[in-house]
Amino acid sequence: MIELSAPVGESNGRVALVTGAARGIGLGIAAWLITEGWQVVLTDLDRERGSRVAKALGEHAWFISMDVADEQQVTQGVAEVLGQFGRLDALVCNAAVADPRNITLESLDLAYWNRVLAVNLSGPMLLAKHCAPYLRAHNGAIVNLASTRAGQSEPDTEAYAASKGGLLALTHALAISLGPEIRVNAVSPGWIDARDPSARRAEPLSDTDHAQHPAGRVGTVEDVAAMVAWLLSRNAGFVTGQEFVVDGGMTKKMIYSA
Ligand SMILES: NC(=O)c1ccc[n+]([C@@H]2O[C@H](COP(=O)([O-])OP(=O)(O)OC[C@H]3O[C@@H](n4cnc5c(N)ncnc54)[C@H](O)[C@@H]3O)[C@@H](O)[C@H]2O)c1
Repeated sequence: MIELSAPVGESNGRVALVTGAARGIGLGIAAWLITEGWQVVLTDLDRERGSRVAKALGEHAWFISMDVADEQQVTQGVAEVLGQFGRLDALVCNAAVADPRNITLESLDLAYWNRVLAVNLSGPMLLAKHCAPYLRAHNGAIVNLASTRAGQSEPDTEAYAASKGGLLALTHALAISLGPEIRVNAVSPGWIDARDPSARRAEPLSDTDHAQHPAGRVGTVEDVAAMVAWLLSRNAGFVTGQEFVVDGGMTKKMIYSA
């Protein structure tokens, strides 16, 4: 006889910290988790916008400003979360210098390279380091937002690609170091239209933009949020150290010009 155990949906009362949540994918993840019953702490460099969106999300959203690349600000932010809620169950490292600016290697400025690595790679390490003791206490989970650009590139995007490749390696390293109490996974989005609704309406994507994807469309923040929410749930209890690609199939498509 097969014994089936029901899916576990007990998000109520659990606390998630989402970085870079003032806009885009981070905001989408925060909103999604709130609908699932999480208490969400949104953090961002952009204090004005972060406070505004947290207010709009209602009583289960709380904002603190933080530069994820600054260890002192990370320590202080995590302490504020613990002071306010007394627990932490999930960490979503989403904040990034997310615009893979095309800069030729010859003109790649070391200060820019270092900033991209500091925010996109050192940031998730610092957050994991300071959140781990609290996540461990509640069998928590971490999700890092990487990118399909960790595995493929267009020219002149060295800093962003290297930061996301490093983040995938950090993800499996953390999964081994922090298990079995804490699970750690990465989500690699492809092309996600993370713009505000007004910008999407003003400048809609073309039919070609959508049709080139095997799934028939460009991705939405909800496509990513749903995957993140599942990875944070206890239904994903046997999943750690992995990368989950959410790209409408683009990285499985063979592309040669005719
Ligand atoms: N949108 C896409 O198509 C796409 C594709 C692949 C991967 N991603 C990844 O998904 C994540 C979210 O992307 P997005 O498109 O929503 O980006 P976005 O630029 O719209 O939002 C990123 C947010 O992070 C914040 N941030 C930047 N540096 C920070 C720092 N040092 N400390 C705290 N907050 C900081 C910004 O203020 C901003 O609110 C990023 O990790 C990005 O690399 C996005």
